[in-house]
Amino acid sequence: MADSAIVIAHRGASGYLPEHTLPAKAMAHAMGADFIEQDIVLTRDGIPIVLHDIYLQSTTDVAQKFPDRVRSDGRFYAIDFTLAEIRSLRAHERSEFSDSNEERAVFPNRYPLAKGLFTVPTLDEEITLIEGLNHSTGRTAGFYIELKAPQFHRQHGFDMAKIILAILDERGLAGQTERVYLQCFDDKTLRYLREELRTPLPLIQLIGENDWGEDGNTDYDVMKTSEGLASIATYADGIGPWIGQIIVGTDDNGQPIFSDLIEKAKAHGLLVHPYTFRREQVPAGFDSFEALHRTFFEILDVDGIFTDFPDVTRAYLDGR
Ligand code: G3P
Ligand code: CA
Repeated sequence: MADSAIVIAHRGASGYLPEHTLPAKAMAHAMGADFIEQDIVLTRDGIPIVLHDIYLQSTTDVAQKFPDRVRSDGRFYAIDFTLAEIRSLRAHERSEFSDSNEERAVFPNRYPLAKGLFTVPTLDEEITLIEGLNHSTGRTAGFYIELKAPQFHRQHGFDMAKIILAILDERGLAGQTERVYLQCFDDKTLRYLREELRTPLPLIQLIGENDWGEDGNTDYDVMKTSEGLASIATYADGIGPWIGQIIVGTDDNGQPIFSDLIEKAKAHGLLVHPYTFRREQVPAGFDSFEALHRTFFEILDVDGIFTDFPDVTRAYLDGR
């Protein structure tokens, strides 16, 4: 069994507070997360902010504050707004619109869809918060930084890999291989980080599905083969598959069916950090969130998980 499996707080303690807000990150730290995730996109002035989507409308009040700035596809792109403008927005729990155009929370039992309290942080601000908590608590949580849509940002004139490494360098983190992971869905960006920018930081290849529309034309079906994993091992340290690539269904008795992805990845020396563990989305074949944890840590022997509930995952690992 992986004796030092890690708790990665997915977008912070996002099961309890709006994702990627500083309070959600502070809560994740207090809950004992080993690493706290940052999804990074850039503003119009090239500043890295911590935001999951390249759009703003699902987690902020941008549509009310800047109604004229919508693009023809109905979205408000972060890259169209300066940092000063984004600072004027208020962040909230993730929402969506029903067929009758009613706004509702994606996870109704999480933090209420109240608006007005939260903001969108920059990467630099989030580093300040986590480093501050590391200092004041004496317990170190690391950074787990995802470069979102690097090809999209390149089309807008920004090399986000260089920009993020420069900030990490300024903050004394560019060589902190025990404290910082970099992750990306785009294999070309990870190769660039390793082979041209020569970062020593551990790199995690995220694996999605070909029909998800991630930028970069990455072929995830090829990545999941033994040859694909061997290729990943030449530039990355591990993979981040989603749960559905590991639990691929249930048998006639309702028991989970597993793929051999983890086994193959381990055969190539790759770490495995699956996403995303959510109390509300326990897959068929498991009778509880705890049972899901047990299977992933004791049977599948993963090296860590991305969890919206870092307290639950911490308690599970501490109780082993
Ligand atoms: O980065 C791991 C996981 O967070 C990938 O999915 O869409 O939540 O960024 P997403
Ligand atoms: Ca992510």
